[in-house]
Amino acid sequence: MTIVSRSTPFLSALALLVLVACGDQWLAAPRLSAGLVQPPPAGIGNDAAGGREIFRHETWGDEAFWTGALHLNDVVQTVDPLTALAVGLKVDAERLPPGFLASADLKSPATTVELLRRDAVLGVRASVTAGGRVARLGITCALCHSTVDNFVLPGVGRRVDGWPNRDLNVGAIVALSPVLDEATKAVFQSWGPGRYDAYWNHDGKNAPVLIPPAYGLRDVALETYTGEGPISYWNAYVAITQMHGQGSFSDPRLGIDVVAQPDRVTPKLPVLRDYQFTLEAPAPPPGSFDAAAAERGRIVFSGAGRCASCHIPPTYTDAPRLHAPVETGMDPVLAGRGTTGAYRTTPLRGVWQHPPYFHDGSAATLADVVSHYDATLALGLTAQQQADLVAFLKSL
Ligand code: HEC
Ligand code: HEC
Repeated sequence: MTIVSRSTPFLSALALLVLVACGDQWLAAPRLSAGLVQPPPAGIGNDAAGGREIFRHETWGDEAFWTGALHLNDVVQTVDPLTALAVGLKVDAERLPPGFLASADLKSPATTVELLRRDAVLGVRASVTAGGRVARLGITCALCHSTVDNFVLPGVGRRVDGWPNRDLNVGAIVALSPVLDEATKAVFQSWGPGRYDAYWNHDGKNAPVLIPPAYGLRDVALETYTGEGPISYWNAYVAITQMHGQGSFSDPRLGIDVVAQPDRVTPKLPVLRDYQFTLEAPAPPPGSFDAAAAERGRIVFSGAGRCASCHIPPTYTDAPRLHAPVETGMDPVLAGRGTTGAYRTTPLRGVWQHPPYFHDGSAATLADVVSHYDATLALGLTAQQQADLVAFLKSL
């Protein structure tokens, strides 16, 4: 059973109730993300072996960092739900009892604490004392790599695992920590929504990238924009060096050698990977592209556009082959920070769902992607060919 197909009548009733009962900024200024106006697709993964539980709820003991070092537990205590939603945190409506939102004070930090107590904030796990204090808090993979379908309200709905949270302002959230100096805060504050820098804490260079989707990776040989390694390599890297979970990770190429006893990460990597492999790329919403134009675009893709020389169907990548930044006219900075010096051809999975494009978000739309290639590769595509190519990309 997928979450999407599960019927939740009380939530529909609740949504109606809220719509009728309050006309405040929730509804006056909806923050629907691109692509989330449609209900999410089926096939968002099943928890065959507990991997979904890990993806959503496992902190690997990273509370030692987010609570012990950064004291973010004290910070969330003072943040009201409207502010939390404004920095892109998402609420899992299925964790809330009927009527909860209709009667809750969304301007009260106590409501945030209650949401945390119910484990309803995606990717944030907290333990709350009987007196209502957030004693400990940690983060999970779902923080960045899942969102909600806005079924109840913008930012509140059913989970969609694997969809990147492009609203989430990780930097702004971390910058609230009371222990950071001004220079460090300035770095975090510079990132903006949907971006994160997975190298900054050990190379000190500030060049965040877009949070990518975690779906559609089953047949892709190398992960990350720079093709750092197979999926479990990168999962371990993030869990240990970024989330600060308790585990062992070593990569001499990066000069990282972390040893933890016990290792809470390594034994869980296989089931986590299995779950990630069940996350399918979402199909394009019905009517979102012109089918005849897309068919013409398919021919441009493999012909005059030369796209298929790197984006080889069905995965639309040629990984493990990698490409020097100059081959596609990419900014070289990120390539120089990883271990490969190059970029992986991004698998074109559900591209309609996650603008902007390229690792640095330098193309706002698929039309911008196409005109970037037209110029960089001197393709000389006509306006018609470019439009058809865009229609094809929207169909993937
Ligand atoms: C703070 C936000 C954040 C968290 C938490 C996070 N990630 Fe990521 N993830 C990113 C970013 C940013 C990248 C892109 C890094 C790059 O390519 O250089 C990424 C890349 C990935 C990729 C590669 C996607 C691709 O197209 O190759 C996978 C897979 C992934 N993350 C899985 C996970 C898993 C599993 C967890 C939990 C262990 C996790 N991430 C936690 C931000 C995050
Ligand atoms: C020489 C190999 C190569 C060719 C040719 C090529 N690409 Fe790419 N493509 C890449 C690489 C490498 C990336 C990753 C760039 C980055 O994000 O830094 C990429 C990224 C993309 C993205 C961004 C996906 C995302 O999720 O951000 C799209 C869309 C895309 N290419 C479409 C095309 C189209 C359309 C063509 C043909 C006009 C094309 N590519 C030709 C290698 C290629």
